[in-house]
Amino acid sequence: MVEKKFPENFWWGAATSGPQCEGSFNKKNKNVFDYWFEIEPEVFFNGVGPSITSNFYNSYEEDIKLIKQLGLNSFRTSIQWTRLIKDFETLEVNKDGAEFYNKVIDECLKNNIIPIICLHHFDLPIELYDKYGGWESKFVTDLYAGFAEKCFELFSDRVKHWITFNEPIVIVEGQYLYQFHYPKIIDGKKAVQAAFNINLSSAKAIKIFKDKGYSKGGKIGIVVNLTPSYARSNSEEDEKASFIADMFFNRLFLDPAVRGEFPKGLTELLKEEQVIWQGTQEEIDIIKNNRVDFVGVNYYQPRRIKAKESTVDTSQPWMPDKYFDNYEMPGRRMNIYRGWEIYPKGIYDIAINLRDNYDNIPWYISENGMGVEGEERFRNSEGIIEDDYRIDFIKEHLEYLHKAIEEGANCFGYHLWTPIDCWSWCNAYKNRYGYISLDLDTQNKTIKKSGYWMMEVSKNNGV
Ligand code: BG6
Repeated sequence: MVEKKFPENFWWGAATSGPQCEGSFNKKNKNVFDYWFEIEPEVFFNGVGPSITSNFYNSYEEDIKLIKQLGLNSFRTSIQWTRLIKDFETLEVNKDGAEFYNKVIDECLKNNIIPIICLHHFDLPIELYDKYGGWESKFVTDLYAGFAEKCFELFSDRVKHWITFNEPIVIVEGQYLYQFHYPKIIDGKKAVQAAFNINLSSAKAIKIFKDKGYSKGGKIGIVVNLTPSYARSNSEEDEKASFIADMFFNRLFLDPAVRGEFPKGLTELLKEEQVIWQGTQEEIDIIKNNRVDFVGVNYYQPRRIKAKESTVDTSQPWMPDKYFDNYEMPGRRMNIYRGWEIYPKGIYDIAINLRDNYDNIPWYISENGMGVEGEERFRNSEGIIEDDYRIDFIKEHLEYLHKAIEEGANCFGYHLWTPIDCWSWCNAYKNRYGYISLDLDTQNKTIKKSGYWMMEVSKNNGV
């Protein structure tokens, strides 16, 4: 029995990215991860790099058919800057790259699947880091805008939903704070500048999209990973720490994208610390005047915060962690494989926050999911992986999402990360997320129990 129906035309879908499903196969230029694997392969789980990943480059037709078989009506992937563009400054296009993305888009449309195309999924060209300092550089914001325009020019006759960046705060955290993306720098001031420049890049792409008429019949958004911030207690100190963490990790990108401005409290704090970005009035106006049409929300885990207890080493460069400590709440439910808390109500809290504080902008869940190690042990005699934990995980999140929609949240879809198990950066193929399993040796793909379950959900438009 279907107890919870979702709105008409709800997007049931799944998301992946170019670097993670098609990898570097047949690519002429390298991104930061391709390069990092070349110099430090031992960092990557079992030494598995981005060469073929899930072979989407060669098997996109079969893969899209499988996605169709799940009953999904929408699919997000990304165009790799390093695949499409041969020369980042002249914008000379690599013909193979353009042809590949044309075929992927056409195949989606042939199968009645809405393609949602992202322009940046952690995959900065290494050349732009080496030459200009990557996201630290204003010049790179122009090169990115040029790349975005090239994508609109080539594909916007068929692609009607664009995403400027996936999880921009993760780029900032990974590259400049916590060392999980190359170049693994620890420098809060550079992190802040990179955050400003990525916001500016996104706004520049939106400006081109709108000014040059690509928005006719199309929409453009951003995907942010929101980690609702919960204070350990309602003491003033804990609440303040949680408020600051929220401004830095969530609102640093959400606010400019939707409201056109940075949170005041955050800019004041960064000024006081003398780590505020360099930004001209013209750039601030570009951000202000070029906002997104919709938001994609990736939700995996909440952020639990307590007032700072550990001492701050003032001889070290400034870090946002100066104001808070992470709090390990006793009894929290964990996905032990990924080390992330499972908290389905977080999705409801996000929905209500967007409804009440962000003008109820249209949004969708662009990623949610559960990465589990060693799923082969759950394969039954018929060859199907019985991933009941994933079904439970999705169901619980959908229930909270449904409740929020009933209460007026403007959510138009739910995408799982990911349709087919794909490459997880440094974790490579350790944790599997898909509705469809991948045998890394044979590249055989088989639908998991959760995939069969999703067929019913999408058919009934509800759970
Ligand atoms: C999101 C990213 O952060 O989470 C994906 O958009 C990523 O690229 C996914 O793969 C799952 O995280 P991870 O680190 O386990 O791959």
